[in-house]
Amino acid sequence: MEDWSGKVAIVTGASSGIGTAVAKSLVKHGVKVVGLARRKERMQEIASQLGKDKFYPVPCDLMKQDDIIRAFRWTEEKFGGVDILINNAGMVSTSPIIEASYEEYRRIIDTNLIGPAICAREFAKSNKKRKTRGHVFNINSIAGHYAEAIQIPLGMYGPSKYGLTALTAELRHEIIIAKLNIRVTSISPGAVHTDLIVNAMRWSPETAEKVAMLRDQDIADAVIYALGAPEGAEVYELTIIPQNKPIEVPVAP
Ligand SMILES: NC(=O)c1ccc[n+]([C@@H]2O[C@H](COP(=O)([O-])OP(=O)(O)OC[C@H]3O[C@@H](n4cnc5c(N)ncnc54)[C@H](OP(=O)(O)O)[C@@H]3O)[C@@H](O)[C@H]2O)c1
Repeated sequence: MEDWSGKVAIVTGASSGIGTAVAKSLVKHGVKVVGLARRKERMQEIASQLGKDKFYPVPCDLMKQDDIIRAFRWTEEKFGGVDILINNAGMVSTSPIIEASYEEYRRIIDTNLIGPAICAREFAKSNKKRKTRGHVFNINSIAGHYAEAIQIPLGMYGPSKYGLTALTAELRHEIIIAKLNIRVTSISPGAVHTDLIVNAMRWSPETAEKVAMLRDQDIADAVIYALGAPEGAEVYELTIIPQNKPIEVPVAP
């Protein structure tokens, strides 16, 4: 992991939850982080907590291609390019597909799938110019692999995350063909205690505490683990689910 120190990462969705935890962990390992999200004030708070010249907030709406291109251009002008991309920003839908509007479909697919594809394309362009080592992470979900097992309606969320699973595979093929030195990792968590799930499920803080969930830091630790894999080894997919809480097993008389 040490050899990423001094390198540059773009973390999308850095204003809260998993994105903030990943950004903080990268900074701890000496990586300069450019945070992309719409809520600039929240990112500015993170920047002031982390100290000067460590975390750079860049306002960006991932539903807008121009915003993404502008953010990559800014990073290139400031640092000469980008070495790590964390495609993390995402939103969940609670509107069933059979009822939701076209606009809702687009919101989810644009944020969770098209945004990451544009970021990966801009990242690959930057990498190609500089011929350096790179790493792309897609923060996926178990909803991108095992939709059958998730019985709450998540609308277009599952389709967007299945798309991200395929995007990860496609990126890896294309990177090999283009002879780029970029590793690709998909991280697929189960429930993580962040605003996304708590707001979607409308859980009170007390209820949320009772549900077995991962911490955002668990996902940040997984990113650091995959980044630190030895030369020649690519951590392609990590599925991380909350450990089951022990249940009372009745003792036979
Ligand atoms: N929490 C879970 O249970 C769970 C489980 C599996 C996978 N995941 C995945 O983990 C990722 C992070 O989610 P989280 O749980 O950390 O949720 P979160 O706390 O709600 O964070 C979501 C982040 O995405 C950003 N975002 C959303 N739409 C955006 C847009 N159009 N443009 C730019 N940024 C946007 C938000 O920033 P702004 O609002 O400031 O723009 C925010 O920083 C998501 O991809 C999610 O699908 C979460």
